[in-house]
Amino acid sequence: MKQLQEKILTDGKVLSESVLKVDSFLNHQIDPSLMHEIGDEFAARFGNEAITKILTIESSGIAPAVMLGLNLGVPVVFARKRKSLTLVDQLYTASVHSFTKNETNEISVSKDFIKSDDVVLIIDDFLANGQAALGLVDIVEQADAALAGIGIVIEKGFQTGGSMIRNRGIRVESLAIISSMANGKVEFHQEVPS
Ligand code: G4P
Ligand code: NA
Ligand code: NA
Repeated sequence: MKQLQEKILTDGKVLSESVLKVDSFLNHQIDPSLMHEIGDEFAARFGNEAITKILTIESSGIAPAVMLGLNLGVPVVFARKRKSLTLVDQLYTASVHSFTKNETNEISVSKDFIKSDDVVLIIDDFLANGQAALGLVDIVEQADAALAGIGIVIEKGFQTGGSMIRNRGIRVESLAIISSMANGKVEFHQEVPS
């Protein structure tokens, strides 16, 4: 997605060879107009899949997921990283290990919001090692729902998550795939056809 690549080049900050800071439009401040375009692009790629529900994870997946939900006219559910007071039982849960933070967290989704007749599309802001995405896939499987695929805003193609998930036969569509951030320079590669 050209517009997204340009935004990453102008506003993204390469913190190291493997970490990209996009706080000014995705992870802290949010650019609504760009999110709108992102929602439309996901809709163009997955619009023929009869999706009934979008599943993401708090917090940074919510903005792109909601713009897509608005386009498709379907509800958006976000997995919680902490259990809420009112969300005590009837939960699907999955363990998500963060390699970056070296910690494992339990994510949860109420059984009220994903049913076995749902066709679910998973959305997230970043795909790195793929552990968050796998946790969401686990929840879709627990619900016995159908998985239409995974839509990612920014994939770090030099990390293992994308190939690991595609090798499981899951369709992954990433709007920008970064092939390298060596020497402080972001380079993109062509999206993997799915
Ligand atoms: P992973 O194995 O699932 O790929 O996750 P990892 O532990 O590598 O990443 C943990 C958090 O850091 C996730 O957000 C993930 O989206 C984000 N992340 C990973 N790589 C990058 C990067 O290069 N740049 C940025 N900006 N984020 C990255 P989170 O902690 O769940 O935060 P949020 O969704 O509340 O923003
Ligand atoms: Na995220
Ligand atoms: Na994030």
